[in-house]
Amino acid sequence: MIIITSPPEHFSGEMDVPGDKSITHRALMLGSIARGVTEVRGFLDAEDCRSTMGCLSTLGATINVRGRRLFVHGKGGQLQAPNAELDAGNSGTTARLLAGILAGSHFESKITGDSSLQQRPMKRIVEPLKAMGAEIEGAAGGDKLPLTIKGKNLKAVHYKSPRASAQVKSAVLLAALYAKGETVFEEPYQSRDHTELMLKHFGAHLIAEAGLVKIKGRQTLQGKQVLVPGDISTAAFFMVAAAILPGSEVLLKNVGVNPTRTGIIDVLKEMGAHLEIENPRKWGMEPVGNIRVKGGRPLKGVEVRGEIIPRLIDEIPILAVAAAVAEGETIIGDASELRVKESDRISDLACQLSRLDIAISEKEDGFVIRGGKPLKGAEVDSCGDHRIAMALAVAGLVARGETAVNAAEVVAISFPGFMQSLRSLCSKKHH
Ligand code: S3P
Repeated sequence: MIIITSPPEHFSGEMDVPGDKSITHRALMLGSIARGVTEVRGFLDAEDCRSTMGCLSTLGATINVRGRRLFVHGKGGQLQAPNAELDAGNSGTTARLLAGILAGSHFESKITGDSSLQQRPMKRIVEPLKAMGAEIEGAAGGDKLPLTIKGKNLKAVHYKSPRASAQVKSAVLLAALYAKGETVFEEPYQSRDHTELMLKHFGAHLIAEAGLVKIKGRQTLQGKQVLVPGDISTAAFFMVAAAILPGSEVLLKNVGVNPTRTGIIDVLKEMGAHLEIENPRKWGMEPVGNIRVKGGRPLKGVEVRGEIIPRLIDEIPILAVAAAVAEGETIIGDASELRVKESDRISDLACQLSRLDIAISEKEDGFVIRGGKPLKGAEVDSCGDHRIAMALAVAGLVARGETAVNAAEVVAISFPGFMQSLRSLCSKKHH
């Protein structure tokens, strides 16, 4: 349980943000199918990435962790038939991206996951992977885990995805590496492009434009060094905490600022928050910067829908907390994907935030928050969702009285050290 006795006297200091989860998963997977050794620096050491490591080890990859670095000894194309089920735990990225690799691997394997992941839709990847020639069976008519995948000689496809999802795109692109011919993937809006960037870094040829990727099959990847930037999705909790606590100043160091991920910065600025990206640079193909946030500016409500949604999809729980503090109405729309994340983030947020006296009304594809009234501390629940747990803890910082977040150990999915980091910024005094 997390207990926040609010509000802190000061919220300030510097923080090294833990490694990006999406990029860590991809470095592990591409490293495992590449030739040679991949060194991953600053990887995220959290439960979701441990799930990916476990699955890849079962598939014959050798992965050694040495401090903040890990070394992946690639299998040069083909992984080995597993002698056990592949357990993706709570991680949708693990299950869906791995399915793409397994579709082109010449053996049978079974992917499963925890009770939350077993409820999440898989048809979105099963359909295109079957169209490429893989044999896949799953629970609920092939839509749910466990999935049994028989890898085949794949053929290239032209797939028009009905949704902007980087997991779907990545599953198809990874399968495309094993397919004969050129695969074309289209999506309605651009989703995060870490897979495309890392494939290029590992020597693959592909054409990537907004909403369109073309990749030829039968390409081999070469293991490389990967520097993992800090995760902007984790940084977002601290950005919002600093923005809503008067007198705060926080410097979040070495955060990934890939434009397919920075929707949260755009929206917080539009709300009136003071945020600056300092020392912008590149780590390999990925843009990185230090994010400075100063608190105390009045925030106002905004409307968030359409093309920006995939650029901030994981930040919506914490954006809801900023919206609760902002004057006026914040509308989140076109975000029905939130219903099939680690929890139903629309109904679970509506339920938990209303316990803190936040005026939130649930919509089919989002919610509306009328902000600006004081938050009241209360007993709330993570609903088994790491991002809801962290968002509620940040809300607790501005709520009157005590906030207790039950089942908060789920923060370990993406950030085991969350509370230590939050506390260290709360306790530092101004100079
Ligand atoms: C991710 C893509 C997003 C995101 C998830 C991580 C990825 O999911 O919500 O946390 O690493 O590709 P969708 O692809 O389902 O939108």
